[in-house]
Amino acid sequence: MGRIAYVNGAYVRHADAAVHIEDRGYQFADAVYEVWAMSGGRLCDPEGHFTRLERSLGELSIDMPMTRAALTTVLKETIRRNRIRDGLVYLQVSRGVAPRDHVFPASPIAPAVVVTVKRTDPVAAEARAAAGVGVLTTPENRWGRCDIKTVGLLPNVLAKQAAKEAGAAEAWFIDADGLVTEGASSNAWIVTSEGVLVTRDTGANILRGVTRETLLEVARTANIRIEERAFSLTEACSAREAFFTGAGALLLPVVSIDGRAVGDGRPGPVATRLRSLYIESARAAAI
Ligand code: PDD
Repeated sequence: MGRIAYVNGAYVRHADAAVHIEDRGYQFADAVYEVWAMSGGRLCDPEGHFTRLERSLGELSIDMPMTRAALTTVLKETIRRNRIRDGLVYLQVSRGVAPRDHVFPASPIAPAVVVTVKRTDPVAAEARAAAGVGVLTTPENRWGRCDIKTVGLLPNVLAKQAAKEAGAAEAWFIDADGLVTEGASSNAWIVTSEGVLVTRDTGANILRGVTRETLLEVARTANIRIEERAFSLTEACSAREAFFTGAGALLLPVVSIDGRAVGDGRPGPVATRLRSLYIESARAAAI
């Protein structure tokens, strides 16, 4: 973890960083967050994350704590003070601090803002992508507004832990119709036997991944056929390739689902190509 965190207007030692016990994020998960991948100390996909942050806050009637420009300055200053080049930036905005009561505070309160930076190992990430990873499926048990990026992530935490215990890197939620919704912290993709790239269309039941959006652009530019539609677990298991995307994973090829090989059990050419095209394009557009 980085040594410095930003908490409500101050840069403080990470070890001393603290929020109030009546922060509504802490008590009710009444808070949203964003995670930016970093490349060379710069923010990847900056605008997409700000747009989604504003949308998540708007859906919950929480004010933007400051302008995009001011927030960018805070994120970049936190990165600079931590001297981290490759990593993840975490931003959390809660409704603020008020005596515990389910309803919103009667008079306006200032949103609480926290920023932390974590180092990642790009060499280890490349090795992981080259080997591919497994996913474990789990019944969808989250609330109906997964399009809002709230910190209420308990089902995701439990799914990810179950995946880890099964030796898998990610969990895929399967809804009541047998359709894949998304991963615990990523969006799910397959490549069909016809070479069509498929990812679920965005509704209230998945997060509109910023990496997903950028990758769709990258795939369009590469003239890959795309279908944004639901796909079943059965279809995923018989797909030629599978992978998932997110700010943390970037793009990781899936080589097995519930222990059964996908395709020939190795990272496929489409996933491998899209990973490098995505990284190239995200690096070029980072600020
Ligand atoms: N998670 N779906 C879920 C449930 C997620 O939590 C995430 C990201 C994504 C991918 O979104 P994006 O491409 O914008 O990162 C999809 C972050 C990385 C996290 O919780 O750490």
